[in-house]
Amino acid sequence: MPMSTPLLLFLSAVAAIVVLTGVLGVSLAVAFYWLDQKYRQAFGPATGAAAAVTAPVVVTHRVAGPGAAISALVILFAGVLVGRYVRLTPLEASSRAEQVDLLFHTMLGIAAAIFLLVEGIIIFSAFRFRRKKGEEGDGLPIHGSNRLEVAWTIIPVLIVLWLGAYSYQIFAQIQTLPPEAMTVEVVSRQFQWEFRYPDLDLTTNDLYIPEGKPIRLKITSADVIHSFWVPAFRVKQDAIPMHETETYFTANAPGRYRVVCAELCGVGHARMGLISYVIVQSQIEFDAWVAEQQAAAGKPPDPVALFTKYGCNACHTLTAAGATGLVGPNLNGIGTIAATRVSAQSAEDYLRESILNPNAFIAPQCPTGACQPGIMPQDFGARMPQSHLDALVNFLLEQK
Ligand code: CUA
Repeated sequence: MPMSTPLLLFLSAVAAIVVLTGVLGVSLAVAFYWLDQKYRQAFGPATGAAAAVTAPVVVTHRVAGPGAAISALVILFAGVLVGRYVRLTPLEASSRAEQVDLLFHTMLGIAAAIFLLVEGIIIFSAFRFRRKKGEEGDGLPIHGSNRLEVAWTIIPVLIVLWLGAYSYQIFAQIQTLPPEAMTVEVVSRQFQWEFRYPDLDLTTNDLYIPEGKPIRLKITSADVIHSFWVPAFRVKQDAIPMHETETYFTANAPGRYRVVCAELCGVGHARMGLISYVIVQSQIEFDAWVAEQQAAAGKPPDPVALFTKYGCNACHTLTAAGATGLVGPNLNGIGTIAATRVSAQSAEDYLRESILNPNAFIAPQCPTGACQPGIMPQDFGARMPQSHLDALVNFLLEQK
């Protein structure tokens, strides 16, 4: 069974928590017992008049009246109302969003009830048991209530164990590969998303998917750790270099949803949440898009599209390409500037070198200060066909 490993992990985690809590509890009990003994030896047993003052007074607990019962019912009802009607999560656009939100709102309801209970008792006690006019003595040394302590230990333990089992059940369900899923490979890099459709021989910067079709994402990173996050789908999965992670979902509402990077990955991290979208279409629209993309693959490359395809737009400003990145040097006018950069190197050679080997010459001025080496990817030579490189260099040369 595929679930055995995570189930084992979950049970081991529960066992570890129980053992650790036990060890901590016993250690605290021993420490308090020792302190208690020490205190008794130091001050000795109270006698005479002193005994009358310090002897523990056992107070018979007030029998909770109808007021307490009504308050408990009101708090429970408020918790149910919060869990049922307070909606803090964004638009739900995938099959798993409903399950994840139900778990979240259940926890929110329970938290709201506990908050009202604790705060309610604090506020009630502060008023009800405040010092009255003329009261000068200490309060009664009340021993406490074992029954109450057992109750407020057992009830939260049961709630937490139940929430653990419930969330594990949802996790196991959403991390099970659905039958007939369409596979898309996600490659993240500083600072760009790339989506590859192995069965369709397509590569894009926006994730196009048909509505109602289970999607299997195989996620990896070309450099540092990123995290692929689509808030509207409740899908979040780390993208790890040299390792492949998977996640599954089915989009159930057509639309355009933002892809966000949820792991701090460098100066362009925030940009990774602004440049790519998931575009959910009907199966017919999706098929038309695929046909169009495959037809376009035979045409000469469009440099403006390449500028986005290779992620140049994430870091560079270039008006002719509609790019507004603020990480690397501004490329407006680069066709003129390129001729003046390195002596005895033509503008064209300089541009070619700057794409293939960005550290060869570090431009002096970037939008946020002096440019730094090592920010621009070093692997364009390996992943850019000659025709794409030529088209980009020619396009940049035209930027006078
Ligand atoms: Cu990629 Cu943060």
